[in-house]
Amino acid sequence: MSNPVIVAIDGPSGTGKSSTSRAVATRLGLSYLDTGAQYRAITWWMLSNGVDVTDAAAVADQTGKPAIVASTDPAAPGITVDGVDASGPIRSQEVTAAVSAVSAVPEVRARMVEIQRAAAAAAPAGIVVEGRDIGTTVLPDATVKVFLTASAEARAARRSGELGGTQSVADTQAALIRRDAADSGRKTSPLAKADDAIEVDTTELTLEQVVDRVVELVAQRRAAR
Ligand code: DC
Repeated sequence: MSNPVIVAIDGPSGTGKSSTSRAVATRLGLSYLDTGAQYRAITWWMLSNGVDVTDAAAVADQTGKPAIVASTDPAAPGITVDGVDASGPIRSQEVTAAVSAVSAVPEVRARMVEIQRAAAAAAPAGIVVEGRDIGTTVLPDATVKVFLTASAEARAARRSGELGGTQSVADTQAALIRRDAADSGRKTSPLAKADDAIEVDTTELTLEQVVDRVVELVAQRRAAR
């Protein structure tokens, strides 16, 4: 049997990480994990339980409480918190505004990384894991590491489209830039490209072109080992 394939896909918001990762996992018959959804889920639990998300000690103190379970099926990604489906609420603007603060707390990151490594180890054929620190911290031995980028304008236009036009492209762009700065500037495992990651600029590419590129990189790496 061939070794499980681990594909790490990192990059800032709006670069197409989720669509790309799901499609790559589907094409290659791999599991799929959205680690951003896990950070959103714990943030949603903190907000729902009245924890002051700007108080790192309070967040750290509560980190172990919620049971967060993410589906690793690319055809049916979803996440539950204490058995409740949180897939919708984790995308709210309140959660989006608070998630960088919660995900900067080292105790939160330590717990999430543990859950993420366990999911990768349990995936029979391998897994595509998307996030901000997968190639640098969570799975440094990944078979293939990809770092997706895109212009700020393209990223904002995509996110604004996903939000159904409820927020202007200019407001979305300002919020994305704020969140990227917070995610890149935090002390514990910031958003960063691993030295051995391959950067793919998605600004001018269709989703299919990006997926083709990642699938090709996986095939090359498999052939080389
Ligand atoms: O991918 P996303 O926008 O759903 O991620 C939400 C937030 O979670 C993002 O602002 C930073 C954080 N995050 C992180 O710190 N580390 C990861 N591996 C994934 C996400």
